[in-house]
Amino acid sequence: MTDSKKAQGQLTIVSLGPGDLNYLAPAARAALQAADVIVGYRFYVGLIRDLLAPHQQIVDSELGEEMARANLAIDLAARGQRVALVSSGDAGVYAMAGPVFEALANRGWTTGSVPTVEVIPGISALQAAAARLGALIAHDFCTISLSDLHTEWPIIARRVEAAAVGDFVIGFYNPRSAGRHWQLAEARRILLTQRSAATPVAIARHLMRPAEQITLTTLGELDVEQVDMMTLVIVGNSQTVRLGAHLATPRGYTAKIAQSVTA
Ligand SMILES: C[S@@+](CC[C@H](N)C(=O)[O-])C[C@H]1O[C@@H](n2cnc3c(N)ncnc32)[C@H](O)[C@@H]1O
Repeated sequence: MTDSKKAQGQLTIVSLGPGDLNYLAPAARAALQAADVIVGYRFYVGLIRDLLAPHQQIVDSELGEEMARANLAIDLAARGQRVALVSSGDAGVYAMAGPVFEALANRGWTTGSVPTVEVIPGISALQAAAARLGALIAHDFCTISLSDLHTEWPIIARRVEAAAVGDFVIGFYNPRSAGRHWQLAEARRILLTQRSAATPVAIARHLMRPAEQITLTTLGELDVEQVDMMTLVIVGNSQTVRLGAHLATPRGYTAKIAQSVTA
């Protein structure tokens, strides 16, 4: 990094991936090691603590303090520090890039302003689950967060209905927590108006972490009690098939192959 870049400060929003450091991008690792200060939610900072050197300052905080964390990281970078703000999965997917850019917009920041901001991408929970399962998102898919902390439930319900009608494979983020226990059951009810009870469903918990657990079930038999905030729930589309412990959503390659053979 040049001296002028260092003097004006740099905020790097670093995606950590799902947990296992084998899935941390080399650019993310380099940004962590180049930082003066690491800012993040305590659990995520714990995942990368072994990569850090004693001289690097760590400012960790509790879950749910996203705006405070974003503003702190911006302030430190604006004062000339090299700041790595860590975020799980991909930082742009329901994660810290959101509050940072909201805070920057509120401050009138624009490209070229101080501090310099960079986002380093990572493997999202949906991609991790899809890889574990085989080819679940090989055709059109969407993600929906079931958290109604920032989005009103009627808007979420409309999106679930639209995804059901559109026959998308759906990854449900933030599916259930101690304080939010009914939303997943309601989403399941909406989906069952459009989709067969036999539709394959994966309940993927703690992906790519030591406690990883993946359970396959169906929409009809989905037990919402098995689901918590460490879980991603993925519902297949009308064509998704189960192959033992794997799930695949066909995109029509075999039909195309048959056509080209007969052409
Ligand atoms: C605030 S969102 C963060 C998403 C993250 N940025 C990503 O790209 O995966 C938190 C939700 O992501 C899902 N999630 C994140 N990491 C996960 C993992 N390792 N295993 C299963 N689900 C995960 C869960 O649904 C959790 O409630």
